[in-house]
Amino acid sequence: MEICRLENIKKNFQMGETITPVDDVNLSIHEGDFIVIEGPSGVGKSTLLYVLGTLLQPTEGKYYFDDVDVSTLNDQQKSDLRAKHIGFLFQDTNLIQALTLKQNIEFVLDHKNEELLENLLKHFGLDDRKEFLPHQLSGGQRRRAGAVRSMIHGPKLLLADEPTNDLDEHWAQVMIEAFKEQTQKGTAVVMVTHNKELAMHAKRRFVLQDGKLIEQN
Ligand SMILES: Nc1ncnc2c1ncn2[C@@H]1O[C@H](COP(=O)(O)OP(=O)(O)OP(=O)(O)O)[C@@H](O)[C@H]1O
Ligand SMILES: [Mg+2]
Repeated sequence: MEICRLENIKKNFQMGETITPVDDVNLSIHEGDFIVIEGPSGVGKSTLLYVLGTLLQPTEGKYYFDDVDVSTLNDQQKSDLRAKHIGFLFQDTNLIQALTLKQNIEFVLDHKNEELLENLLKHFGLDDRKEFLPHQLSGGQRRRAGAVRSMIHGPKLLLADEPTNDLDEHWAQVMIEAFKEQTQKGTAVVMVTHNKELAMHAKRRFVLQDGKLIEQN
């Protein structure tokens, strides 16, 4: 079943010159997909994830989520959509500095599931860091906390922007296994990575080049 679909999506930034990191992109994302997007630094991978995450409005084209045209939703509706159906592991993790690790994960949740939270924290080696503030965590621990936050609500779409940055091989493997587990439950994972080895785990691989998404065989 299709979860979401990009149709002729273009994103411009006007900064004196016009930057077009995403130019006429089409992509249909289905339940259980594991998609990897690669491409050099500055090419537009994060921009594309922001569009998929409904955090950036495309300049042209249509983005459908559950067959709803996202451009027809107001800010509150988009916020509800994200809280319910989208998980985002940001490139810079975006944890709230004033909240503890546990609060960072819980504050978007409608209803808490302590058991699931405990299991995920254990899985990511964070069960003894729950009460720590982000600045009291290591870079890799913050990344793993971001991972827990991105999947705690069982999203339909999980967007992971270079999720294995600051992780050693062991934790990178744990991260990938967690994503795979999510896909087995029907979540579609879209991961941006520079790590060729990890990219091999994906079912579909794309390179973003000159604003175009090119599928690799
Ligand atoms: N809000 C913005 N305003 C203006 N330009 C932007 C904005 N966000 C991104 N850009 C520009 O769009 C281009 C793509 O940025 P993006 O962050 O999507 O790249 P990326 O592929 O994720 O790179 P990296 O691998 O380094 O994370 C860059 O040239 C950047 O300067
Ligand atoms: Mg990026």
